[in-house]
Parts: sequence; structure tokens; C-alpha cells
Amino acid sequence: MREKEIIKGFSKLDKEDKIKKVASFFHDSERVEKELKSFWHPEIETQKLFDEFAENTISNFYFPYGMAPNVIINGKNYMIPMVIEESSVVAAASNSAKFWSTRGGFHTKIIGLTKIGQVHFTWAGAPEKLKQHFPQLRKLFFNGTEYITKNMRQRGGGILDIELVDMRHEIADYYQIKAQFNTIDSMGANFINSCLEEFADILKNYVIENEELKAFPAQVIMSILSNYTPDCLVEAWVECNVDELEGVDPDISAQEFAWKFEKAVQVATVDTFRATTHNKGIFNGIDAVVLATGNDFRAVEACGHTYAARDGKYRSLTFIELKDGRFKYTLRVPLSLGTVGGLTKLHPLARFTMELLGDPHAEDLMQIAAVAGLANNFGALRSLTTKGIQKGHMKMHLLNILNNFGVTETEKHAAIEYFKTRKVLFNAVEEFVKDVRKK
Ligand code: MEV
Repeated sequence: MREKEIIKGFSKLDKEDKIKKVASFFHDSERVEKELKSFWHPEIETQKLFDEFAENTISNFYFPYGMAPNVIINGKNYMIPMVIEESSVVAAASNSAKFWSTRGGFHTKIIGLTKIGQVHFTWAGAPEKLKQHFPQLRKLFFNGTEYITKNMRQRGGGILDIELVDMRHEIADYYQIKAQFNTIDSMGANFINSCLEEFADILKNYVIENEELKAFPAQVIMSILSNYTPDCLVEAWVECNVDELEGVDPDISAQEFAWKFEKAVQVATVDTFRATTHNKGIFNGIDAVVLATGNDFRAVEACGHTYAARDGKYRSLTFIELKDGRFKYTLRVPLSLGTVGGLTKLHPLARFTMELLGDPHAEDLMQIAAVAGLANNFGALRSLTTKGIQKGHMKMHLLNILNNFGVTETEKHAAIEYFKTRKVLFNAVEEFVKDVRKK
């Protein structure tokens, strides 16, 4: 690898020259160029589409696109596409789906669909003056954004409420215009931000023109949606009689499993170290669906983790009720997703995902993603509280280890057979490959 100099005007280069530039850092630049191009889509138009999703694109980065079949949600059978690089995530979701398919499936409900946006500003005048004028301002905000909200209102959404929040206890002269939105089937970031920027202009002009306020200008710091949407919330759960858990694992009774499972959830509720891993397992499933639908997984993650810490301590997103011989296990998670806009209809596989899921509305997709999260988490806890995570995990990881050694198909099959009855450890696989090659 060669030393990199500061590059001027990289973004202005065409794609070929960008690749050449990157390849020039390597001693075998020809190989690098060839490899980068080998991941281009064969259809020029499709490749162009991918290139235009983001800046400075030189190739595509492949991730597996897998399927979790037999996922029963509110009585309907789904096959859920999942984009994930981690072996065993799709398997965990599929196994849980199979297990629950004979125990009533997954149940879901939407708790709310409200999203939030804020204009952060300062104003140094007497607070009661601003508060007196706010009802008039509020009307102007609604009226002044009618041209933006028209279509959304026709679909049943729009701005739900706008309030003035006095934040002077935190920062001198600091206020917020805090607005609630329903963005129906779109994730809504552009819609919300456009409304907020209009509010900001209306506010500034109102203050300048008003005799009682104009001694101090309204200084708008920023206008932006909040990715924290605690009221855009969905619940997914599974439930059955404890007896029906029989068969969850050959080495444990239904009662013992329910007891251990309850303890595991309690641990994730009280211990932040465990809660983080527990919730990570939930997002294994959620993110995979979010990615497969072209939604914004960073927004979903940021929101979910903030929600997990809403009472001041980071806790599990799931909770369990175990009483009177019933087992009920619930995930409650805020999910701000879209089924229109963004990449959802542009990315060919995101579009296919939507088709396979039956062209869901955003609230349907929230329920599907939440189920994927719960299915993965149930699968993880099922393994953790019984045979341990490594057995299943390493079985799935075996192919990755083998591929590291560049095995042939014959060596691969021999290894799979051999490790059916043995512990998969990196060293053990390495030894096995060496032995096979010696023979
Ligand atoms: C691994 O990706 C996820 C788990 O660690 C989740 C958990 O511990 O609950 C298995």
C-alpha cells in the first residue's frame, strides 16, 4: 500500500478515474481495479441507479439477502427478507418463527404513530410576551405550511400539534417550537424538516414585525426532526401456556425453561451490560428488515437505544409476564419506518421486499420489523438459557472459517460432516483442513 497524499477534487473525477486513483494506492493496481469493477451490476442502468444513491461511489458492497419463512403475524403467514452479514441471525429468526407457528404465532399492535420535529431558537425578551403571542404564531405555522402539508393531509396525516417549550432552565434564552407529525407511509424526514424550516422563517419574520417583540430578534439555531420518536411505537409479543413450551429444548422441561427465561429477561432489565447485548440481538432482526426495505437503520437504532434508556437507565426493550401458568413475552420498540419515499421504491431489492411482504403500509412494516426483532431475541435467549450460544453460532460460522482457508467444495463437505458431532473452534477447523490436505 502506498502513502496517500491529500487529494483535491476527487468528487469531480468520473467513476473510472476515481477507481484509478484508489487503485493507485496499491502496488497491484490492476488487480484492484478489476476486483472493484467485478462487483458492478451487469446492467448499466441499474448500476447508474446505485451510483447515484450516494457520492463518490466506485463499486457495490454485497450483503446476503436471506429469507425467514413461516413467520405468522396476527394469523397471516409472512416470508421476511433479511439483509445481514452475521451468520445465524436468519437461522435464529427462522427457528423462532417455526417454534411459535404452532403456538399461535406472533401478535402485534401499533401503539402510536407520532413523530417529532423541533425548531431550536433563542429570544432574549420577557418570556410572557413570547408566550402571549404564541397562539397567533401557532396559527401562522399551520397556515403558512398548508402548501407543504396539503398532500399529507389528504392522506390523513400532517401536523398534529405545535407547542412552545421554554428551555431557559437549561440554556439562557433558549426555546423550542416542538411539533408533532403523522407522516402516514413515509418516514417523513423531508416533510418534517420542510415544515420546520418554514416555521423558522415565520417565527423570525413575526418577531421582526411585531412591536412588542422586535426589540430582540429570534435567533434560529437549527430546525430538524428528532429521530427519537417514543410515540411512534409498536408492540410484538408471543404467548402460550407454560406447558406448551415443552420441546423448546430436549434437555430442559417447559417449567424450567420458563423460569430461566424469565430470569434472563430480568437480568437484561436491571443490568446495563447485559441489556446492551440483549437489545443488540433484537436489532439483529430489526436492522436486517430495515435494510431489506431500504429504510434508515441508523435512525431506528438511535431511537431504539434512547427509548431503552428513557427512565435514565439503559434497559431491555422486552419484558415478560409469567403468571397463572401463562408465558407472555413482549417487545415494545419505537420504529419510524417508511414504505414510500427514500430508497424504498428505488432500490430494486427493497422494492422486491415490499412486494414479497404484500406492499405493506408503514404501520404494517413496523409490526413486521418488530416481530423479526422479537424472533431473534427469543432465539438468542432460547440458546443462551439452554445449550449456550456457541454451538449453533459456530455451526453457522463454520462456512466463514472454511472460506478463510480457501477450501474446495469437497473439503467443505468433509468439514461439515466432521463437525456435525464436534465443537466448531477456529483452531480445530484449521487443524482439520491441514489434515485433509496432508492426506
Ligand atoms: C449476537 O449477535 C447476539 C446475541 O449476543 C444476543 C444476546 O446475547 O441476547 C446472541
